[in-house]
This record gives sequence, structure tokens and C-alpha cells, in this order.
Amino acid sequence: MAALALLLAALLALSAHAVLEVQVPEMPVVALYGQDAVLNCSFAPTGPFNLSDLSIFWQLTDTKRTVYSYWDGRDQLTDQVEGFANRTGLFHAELGSGNASLALRSVRIADDGSFTCFVRIEEYGSAAVLVQVAAPYSKPQVTSEPESNVRPGDVVTLSCMAHGGYPEAQVMWLDGGGRNLTDNVTVSQVANEEGLFSMRSVLTVMAEPNSMYNCTLVNPLLGAEGHASASITAPSVTGLNMVFPPVALWVTVGLAICLLGLLIALAVICGRKIKESCEEADKGEEGKELEEDESKTAMTPLKS
Ligand SMILES: *[C@@H]1O[C@H](CO)[C@@H](O)[C@H](O)[C@H]1NC(C)=O
Ligand SMILES: *[C@@H]1O[C@H](CO)[C@@H](O)[C@H](O)[C@H]1NC(C)=O
Ligand SMILES: *[C@@H]1O[C@H](CO)[C@@H](O)[C@H](O)[C@H]1NC(C)=O
Ligand SMILES: *[C@@H]1O[C@H](CO)[C@@H](O)[C@H](O)[C@H]1NC(C)=O
Ligand SMILES: *[C@@H]1O[C@H](CO)[C@@H](O)[C@H](O)[C@H]1NC(C)=O
Ligand SMILES: *[C@@H]1O[C@H](CO)[C@@H](O)[C@H](O)[C@H]1NC(C)=O
Ligand SMILES: *[C@@H]1O[C@H](CO)[C@@H](O)[C@H](O)[C@H]1NC(C)=O
Repeated sequence: MAALALLLAALLALSAHAVLEVQVPEMPVVALYGQDAVLNCSFAPTGPFNLSDLSIFWQLTDTKRTVYSYWDGRDQLTDQVEGFANRTGLFHAELGSGNASLALRSVRIADDGSFTCFVRIEEYGSAAVLVQVAAPYSKPQVTSEPESNVRPGDVVTLSCMAHGGYPEAQVMWLDGGGRNLTDNVTVSQVANEEGLFSMRSVLTVMAEPNSMYNCTLVNPLLGAEGHASASITAPSVTGLNMVFPPVALWVTVGLAICLLGLLIALAVICGRKIKESCEEADKGEEGKELEEDESKTAMTPLKS
């Protein structure tokens, strides 16, 4: 602990005359959540050197906390921040050829940030690598509220949702004509325990017949990730890409139902009329009827 502090103090004091050339990627390293990454760091020794004279320190640039250290020819991990234990390592076989890269396994959201690579062989040098953690979002889903019986002019709320991504997503809404609707949108992004975001973008529109709304999700590090759409077809709102029959068909169906109703009503009325006239006729021939009725009643058990 004390030795390390002294050593670091010495390194910092030396930094004014740092002459060892240390190189890291100029561009941020995009590391995928849950996967392994390599933070490249290479140094150019001026000549052959003994590994026991080599010191390597990886630190978090902001807090100066220890991610990994190596000196006296071996790993020195007593000071290592707990979150990096068992997830980090150097490529020991390549140290002699100037490769001080850090292997980082199972990348977490907390790894997002800057890491500094210090190298010393008599002379000293350092450089910082920026790590950007990225996680792809799930495929977006669009839902609408209300879901059905929407008439032109009604206010419809369309929600586009996706989860498990990082960093925060950008959402773009376009209508069927390609018009940008992004101005009338509210977005909320909530992080879970692992730091991954769930995104919900809500668009409020006045229902217009036969209109289409596309939600496109863009991850700033991974680019466009997916899109989903909803269509409003008066008098109903449908989910994904479902096509409803045109208005003309509904009118036809409606008319057919009316016609059917009319026919049934007619049939009932006619039936009653016929029955009534039959009864009147029956009254006229009551005498004969009685005999016939008796025979009918007698026949009935046989029928069933
Ligand atoms: C690390 O360095 C190696 C060799 O120079 C190169 O092939 C690789 O693309 C680098 N990786 C990153 C993430 O910069
Ligand atoms: C260092 O070595 C590792 C393992 O071979 C390799 O993946 C990495 O690209 C090397 N980095 C550089 C800067 O050469
Ligand atoms: C490297 O240094 C160690 C300790 O100073 C020494 O024992 C060893 O002989 C040296 N090796 C070489 C190849 O110089
Ligand atoms: C790292 O691994 C060692 C040995 O497997 C284990 O004892 C230790 O608890 C692990 N540390 C963490 C932080 O997981
Ligand atoms: C909306 O999305 C559908 C498919 O989901 C696509 O066919 C259509 O071209 C998109 N419209 C616009 C304006 O992006
Ligand atoms: C839509 O508008 C938003 C905000 O005004 C803007 O950031 C985005 O780039 C626009 N997209 C397109 C395709 O015009
Ligand atoms: C946004 O909403 C306002 C009023 O709510 C409306 O006048 C405007 O046309 C809407 N903009 C877009 C692009 O839909």
C-alpha cells in the first residue's frame, strides 16, 4: 500500500520528464455489455529490458482508483477495486514486446468511462483510453390507447417501448408521409439495477383516417436499431400492420344486417297473420275440428 503510494508519487513527479512512448486508441473503445473487451495500450521500449524492471498501472482516470497493477515481475492486486477482481488481466506473454493491454471480461455499465495506462521501465509514460459501453435495445413495440373504436378527430396516444439498452435511446416518429413528428413526443427512460434503460416514447395525435406512425429507435453508439409502426384506420386503430376492411365494406355489412332484420320481422308478422286467419277459419268449423283434434292427439304418441 505504502510502496504503491510512493511509487505513484514518484511516477507523478517524473511525469514532467516522461519519455516512454505509450499509445492507446485515439477513438473511444465501444465495449458491448456482457461481452469481453481489450483496452489496448502499447509502449515502445528503447531497447531490451528485464521484466522485473517493468511496472504497469491501470487506473480509473477520474478517481485514480486501481484497476490493475504489475511490478517486480508479477501482478500486484491487493489495491484492486473490488469491481474489477477476477474480470481483468494483462497479456503476460506479450509484455516483453510492449503490449500492456488490459483484458476486461463481462463488461458492465459501470465500466463506462476513462482508463489510464501507466508504464514505466526507468522512464515513464501514460495515456488514457475512453471506454463507451453499449447494449442493444429489444425490438421496439408500438401500442395505442384507445385500442379500438377510434373516430377521426379523436385523440390517440401511441407508445413506443423498448428495453435493456444503453446508453439512452433516441426515438424518432415519422408519419406515413415521412413527416417528422418528434416535436410532440415525451420520452421517459428508466434504468434497472444493472444500469440498462427501458425507454418509452409517447406520441399524442389526432386520429386521421388511414394514417401510419413509425417509431424508429436509435442507439447513439450502435446506430438505428429497429422500428415499429401503428396505423390508424377509421373507425378502428390496429396494432402492427394489420389491415382493416375499407369503410365501404362496413357499410355493405351494415346494410346486409338491416335487410336480414327486416326479413325476419316480416316473416314473424306474416306468420302471425297466417295463424290468425287459420284460427278464424277454425272457429267456423269447430264441430269437425273437435273430432280431428282427438284423432291428432291420439296420433301424437305414435309420432314421437
Ligand atoms: C488493439 O490492437 C490490435 C493490434 O494493434 C488491433 O488489431 C485491435 O483492433 C485493437 N483493438 C482495439 C479495440 O483498439
Ligand atoms: C495485445 O495482446 C492481445 C492478446 O494477444 C491482443 O488481443 C491485443 O490486440 C494486443 N494489443 C496490442 C496493442 O498489440
Ligand atoms: C532480471 O532482473 C532480475 C532481478 O533484478 C535478475 O535476477 C535477472 O537475472 C534479470 N534477468 C535478465 C535476463 O537480465
Ligand atoms: C475472485 O476469485 C477468487 C478465487 O476464485 C475468489 O476467492 C474471490 O472471492 C473472487 N472475487 C470476487 C470479487 O468475485
Ligand atoms: C413505416 O414502416 C413501414 C413498415 O414498418 C414501412 O413500410 C414504411 O415505409 C415506413 N414509413 C415511413 C414514412 O418511414
Ligand atoms: C426530427 O426532429 C427531431 C427534433 O426536432 C430531430 O432531432 C430529428 O433529427 C428529425 N429527424 C428527421 C428524420 O428529420
Ligand atoms: C403538435 O401539437 C400541436 C398542438 O398540440 C399541433 O398544433 C401541431 O400540429 C403538432 N405538430 C405535429 C408535428 O404534429
